[in-house]
Amino acid sequence: MDVDCRALVAERIRQRGPITVAEFMDLALYAPEVGYYARAARRSGRAGDFVTSVDVGAVFGALLAERFAGWWRAMGTGARGPARIDLVEAAAGNGRLTRDILDAAARRDPAFYQALAAHLVERSAPARAAHPGVLASHGPRLASSGDALPAGIDGIVFANELLDALPVHLVEMGAAGLSEVYVDLASGRLIDRPGPLSSPALAAYLADAGVTLGAGARAEINLAAVDWVSGVAARLRRGFLALVDYGYQAAELYSEARRQGTLATYHRHLVDAPDAGAPAGPAWLADPGSRDLTSHVDFTSVRRAAERAGLETVTVTSQTRFLLEILEGSPLVAELSAPDRLAERLALKTLLMPGGLGSTLTVLVFAKK
Ligand SMILES: C[S@@+](CC[C@H](N)C(=O)[O-])C[C@H]1O[C@@H](n2cnc3c(N)ncnc32)[C@H](O)[C@@H]1O
Repeated sequence: MDVDCRALVAERIRQRGPITVAEFMDLALYAPEVGYYARAARRSGRAGDFVTSVDVGAVFGALLAERFAGWWRAMGTGARGPARIDLVEAAAGNGRLTRDILDAAARRDPAFYQALAAHLVERSAPARAAHPGVLASHGPRLASSGDALPAGIDGIVFANELLDALPVHLVEMGAAGLSEVYVDLASGRLIDRPGPLSSPALAAYLADAGVTLGAGARAEINLAAVDWVSGVAARLRRGFLALVDYGYQAAELYSEARRQGTLATYHRHLVDAPDAGAPAGPAWLADPGSRDLTSHVDFTSVRRAAERAGLETVTVTSQTRFLLEILEGSPLVAELSAPDRLAERLALKTLLMPGGLGSTLTVLVFAKK
C-alpha cells in the first residue's frame, strides 16, 4: 500500500471536502511523485501490472509503420508523401512503440523514415526522462518530448490505451435521479458516497449519447476523453488520428450488462472489477497510487466529438481486422514465415487472436483532409 498517495487523497478531502472520482483518479494515477504513473517509467509488461500490444513485441510497431507509410503517401502527390510530417504519439510511455515504428520504417521504407518528425507526448515525468535513451538510435527524428500535444500538427497522431487511462466521473441513477459518486473519509477510511452532479456536462453527456441509466446503475463518464479528442482535432491541420483502446458503443457500455460500470484496477496482472456495495467498498478505492485504474471507453461519444470538431471517421474496427488488413498483400507476411522468425509469428498471433488483445481492443481512425 502506498501511504503517501493515500495520505495526499485524505489531505485533499480534509481541506476541500469530498472529491469526485475523476479527481481521485487523477491523484491516484498522476499526482507528481506519488501517483501510479508518476512513480515509474514503465508499468506494463511481464514484470508490471498489465500487458499492452506494445509489450507483445516489435511486430505491432512494424504493422503500424506500414499503415502510417500508406497514410503519408496519401497525404502527398504521386508515390511520395510530403517531405516532412509530424508523427505524434500520445501516452507514449517510455517511447518503445515510436521506437519500434521508427526501427521498421528505417529498415523497410527509408523515404518515409526521412520524412518523420517524431513527437512523444506523455504525462509521466519518469517515462519522459527515458525518451532520449529509448530513441537514441533515432536522434535526428526525435523532434520533441513533452507533456502536451504540439500546437500545430501536419501528419499522424496516435495513441495506444490513452483514453482508458484518463480520469472519469462516476455517476449513479438513484430514486431521485442522477447523482455523482464522490470519495470521502469516514473514521479515517476512504469511502464512496453519492452527491450532487459536479457539472451539468455529466447529464448533458448521457442525454447526448441517448442513454438513460437503469435504477441503481453506476456508469463512468469520460469528459476528459471527449476534450482530448476535440483538442487533437483543433491542433491537427491535416492528417490522421488513430486510437487503440478498450471500450464499447454507448448503448452497450451503458446497458444493464454493465450496471456497476467498468472502473477496474490492475495489479500484477490481476483485475479487480467493480463491486460497489461489497463490505470493503469498491476495488478502485483501495491502495491509491499502487494500482492501475482504468475504465472502458464510450466510442460513440469519442466519434461524435471527433466529427463535431471537424474530423472524418475513416474506420472503427477491431484490432484483429485492422491488423489483418495491413497484413493483406504486405511483404511482412513472407518475411515472417522465415524459420528464425517464430517469436514474431507468435507475437502476431497474440495481437490477432479472437478473445485476446485482437478482439477486445478497438481501433478508431479519423482524418482531416
Ligand atoms: C495504459 S498506459 C499506455 C502506455 C503505452 N501507450 C502502451 O501501450 O504501453 C497509459 C499512459 O498514458 C499516459 N497519459 C495519461 N494521460 C495522458 C495525457 N493527457 N497525455 C499524455 N499521456 C498521458 C500515462 O502516463 C501512461 O503512461
